[in-house]
Amino acid sequence: MCGIVGYVGYREASDVLVGALRRLEYRGYDSAGVAVLNGRGIEVRRCVGKLVNLEKLLITEPLRGAIGIGHTRWATHGRPSEENAHPHRAGNVVLIHNGIIENYLELKAELTAKGRTLSSETDTEVIAHLVDEEMKGGVSLVHATRNAVRRLLGSFSIVVMSDTEPGRLVAAKTATPIVLGLGERENLIASDIPAILEYTRDMLFLEDGEMAEVTRDAIVLTDFEGNVRQRAPKRVTWDPVTAQKGGYKHFLQKEIHEQPQALIDTLRGRIRLETGDAPLAELDPIDDRLGKIDRITLSACGTAWHATLVGKFFLNQLARLPAEVDYASEFRYRAPVLGERDLVIVVSQSGETADTLGAVEEAKRAGALTLAICNVLDSSIARRCDAVIYTHAGPEISVASTKAFTTQLAALFLFAVRLGRRLDRLDASQASVLLAHLRNIPQLTEQALSLESRVAQIARRHANAQDFLYLGRGVNYPVALEGALKLKELSYIHAEGYPAGEMKHGPIALITDQLPVVVMAPKDDVYSKTISNLKEVESRGGRIIAITDEPSDELERIATDLLVVPKTHSLLSPFTLTIPLQFLAYQVAVERGSDVDQPRNLAKSVTVE
Ligand code: BG6
Repeated sequence: MCGIVGYVGYREASDVLVGALRRLEYRGYDSAGVAVLNGRGIEVRRCVGKLVNLEKLLITEPLRGAIGIGHTRWATHGRPSEENAHPHRAGNVVLIHNGIIENYLELKAELTAKGRTLSSETDTEVIAHLVDEEMKGGVSLVHATRNAVRRLLGSFSIVVMSDTEPGRLVAAKTATPIVLGLGERENLIASDIPAILEYTRDMLFLEDGEMAEVTRDAIVLTDFEGNVRQRAPKRVTWDPVTAQKGGYKHFLQKEIHEQPQALIDTLRGRIRLETGDAPLAELDPIDDRLGKIDRITLSACGTAWHATLVGKFFLNQLARLPAEVDYASEFRYRAPVLGERDLVIVVSQSGETADTLGAVEEAKRAGALTLAICNVLDSSIARRCDAVIYTHAGPEISVASTKAFTTQLAALFLFAVRLGRRLDRLDASQASVLLAHLRNIPQLTEQALSLESRVAQIARRHANAQDFLYLGRGVNYPVALEGALKLKELSYIHAEGYPAGEMKHGPIALITDQLPVVVMAPKDDVYSKTISNLKEVESRGGRIIAITDEPSDELERIATDLLVVPKTHSLLSPFTLTIPLQFLAYQVAVERGSDVDQPRNLAKSVTVE
């Protein structure tokens, strides 16, 4: 998820572009760049690191001109560096991109065979060369771009400019957002409203498969076939701060709602139903060693640690391998017994958490194979491990983790299927059924998001509770832990997650009519056991908030509040059951007036021990 902008008008483009990128930095901040066209042609300035580095460069090497494009990056292909930063140039063409091109390696090979030299590690540079190659054929920038985008697979929003067509920008998109801002003697392009709200409130939203030819005085919409599209602009009434949150009150609320898209992006190109495979090419270099693994240890911190607990179930059941889980801060000091045939999987959103990095060092010292599941490209943990599976949640701004968690579950499930197939413990048809369920998860989480207002009502009734208890069984015991952690992080209410079957051996002592007890009760093979635990709570007056995927009269009767999420394969129920727990913690925190996005005492990534 990068931030892209374009400007054509009468102002100094570099000022407009940098200002707009500042309001898009929540979309990505590992490198940035602008390109401006003036009498000397198109000049480009790029920097690795936060936008402020680019601002410093533009002071020493300013750019003059009233048309340009700009980009702030969240790396997916090619580590954060000046060469991989956007804009990318190919001949007369300069281009910025947000999204993922799945077939870029094939296109790169084809362009190289034509004698072209591609200098970056990105998928984006391929598009610039494709457009330039088309223009060599004598066609216009808009036609060249149209011919190029028809060859791309994946998600993309791009803005292109050319030395040979001053005064014109061309934008095109599929799957990632582009908004066009209509001004007086100026027009703007951006991946999100906040970037351009300062200049206009009249916006046109580009649809999938559409392009826009943008000059100072006009915007022409067409589709990828060249057919003209007509549409009236919409007037946006948001204030700029709300706009950054996409109209949500908090980044956390926005990130909860971004989970379906984050899951789509994380699963993209990684499910092959016809062969029952999860093609994770990034594992090919370690495939030999994977074939010899006979034990797995998973390690992480915080919310990521809860993801590893769910991952343990996936690996036990799909790869039939013993898997144990350890807090990274414990693992690194307990001198774990590890060897060549051990795989240590670490999970980290930021890829910078010191304890998790320490766990990697410990595993490497013992000669174990190491695999990272990370959300930040080229982060320390990703670089240190033998292989890495990237989640594509995009930047997670809110300190408490939500969308990263569900994408971590997706990556762990894909890996478990891949390993199960590799070790011949899962056959193609079994895997295909499971992967079909997984592919449906983004849509089911979308449906679960509709519970928000119902959960808000429940939260209002329990917001003054002193304590909460969360219960779950099997693969949903970690979900209970995650629900409790979210409530602690966001509302500062003491909360405990517990295996439902273990409650009667201790926490049952806490139950009174003042204690909300949140219970995961999906209709799975331990459902009847969960019902008995619910009755143990009911008989002691506890206030039960039950979450299920199949309502029943019995649950209706026992539970004070019953929430129903869409049904899926029992192993995948953590995806849907987690959503109402995120909303519950969020809404209780809002009720209590907590600083939701920056809770006290917490940090997004703890890079010290
Ligand atoms: C904490 C964050 O500091 O670190 C949590 O507040 C997070 O949200 C935990 O789960 C682990 O971070 P990471 O980046 O290693 O997943």
